[in-house]
Amino acid sequence: MTGVYPGSFDPFTLGHKDIVERAAKFCDKLYIAVSENINKKHLFTLEERVEMIREVFAGNDNIIVESFNGLLVDYMQSKKAAYIIRGLRAVSDFEYEFQMAFANRSINNNVETIFMVPGSRYLFLSSTIVRDIAYNKGDVSSLVPEPVCKRLIEKYNI
Ligand code: PNS
Repeated sequence: MTGVYPGSFDPFTLGHKDIVERAAKFCDKLYIAVSENINKKHLFTLEERVEMIREVFAGNDNIIVESFNGLLVDYMQSKKAAYIIRGLRAVSDFEYEFQMAFANRSINNNVETIFMVPGSRYLFLSSTIVRDIAYNKGDVSSLVPEPVCKRLIEKYNI
């Protein structure tokens, strides 16, 4: 089974990592597919985000980190992947995720979205919260993987 975990990951958090580790248990191959979200203004470039996530999963041969442009379903077709993995935290995520799952299915009926729940300590963790804490020079070391923490410290002079 080949899964794709898409997102803007700006930045990649320990909540994202938790989902990847859970999904990697049942996916033979898992693509972490990093993209621009046209509705967001990004802190890190696409290249920086890919680089950081690659560092996090260095040595894991079944976890492949790539960027993609265009439609997610087209990217998935090129990888022969049928399963989209998305993390669901609170009810507030639901409407956006539900819309996206239907949008993807309406473009390609062969893709299925699998929603996964992170460990309870990550239920209220988001990239937005991490950016806010780092911007205000707070400690994010318990919220993001080490390579991300390093980049945030550099960026914000923490
Ligand atoms: O982490 P995010 O920002 O919620 O991720 C959103 C993302 C990048 C997965 C979504 O915007 C996406 O799939 N973009 C690619 C364009 C696309 O396929 N759009 C149609 C589905 S909404």
